[in-house]
Amino acid sequence: MNPAPNLILIGPMGAGKTCIGRRLAERFTLDFVDADQAIVDAAGASIPTIFEHSGEAGFRQHERQVLQHLLAGQGQLVSTGGGAVLDPDNRAAIARRGFVVYLRVSVAAQLERLARDRTRPLLQRPDRAQVLEQMASVRDPLYQGLADLTLDTDLYTPGEATAQLVLRL
Ligand code: S3P
Repeated sequence: MNPAPNLILIGPMGAGKTCIGRRLAERFTLDFVDADQAIVDAAGASIPTIFEHSGEAGFRQHERQVLQHLLAGQGQLVSTGGGAVLDPDNRAAIARRGFVVYLRVSVAAQLERLARDRTRPLLQRPDRAQVLEQMASVRDPLYQGLADLTLDTDLYTPGEATAQLVLRL
């Protein structure tokens, strides 16, 4: 595998970053680090609570600090939040500090996978489909710009997607 210090998963909500990340980390004996969980641990509050008290801007500040700290480490598989790539400093750190895997997913598959999700504040509204389309139009070019490898996850279970990545890494 590439000698980059970390393996970093990027991609939208519902792409399977956490599920696939756990499996890949085990397969390659890397420490699994979920950036969203690290934000919750550092802030001592859930993501919905952070959004409620500090808004998206406050959440992004936490995210930036936590990611910069995490990505200074090595030997980890880091699963990033879907919006992490919006910040230029995060993009620079991701590009510098790891081999980057973009897990792609269609809006249709996101809607299906996240239908009952209550943990993503940006999706707690009736026009989810439009929100996800709009996010994809802004973020997909950013994900693509960072990706060393891209996998479409729509047709795969997490186990199958992991097997595909093991073949390609
Ligand atoms: C977000 C994605 C979430 C989480 C937060 C914001 C986004 O992470 O960081 O709710 O802006 O796309 P996942 O991609 O792990 O769901």
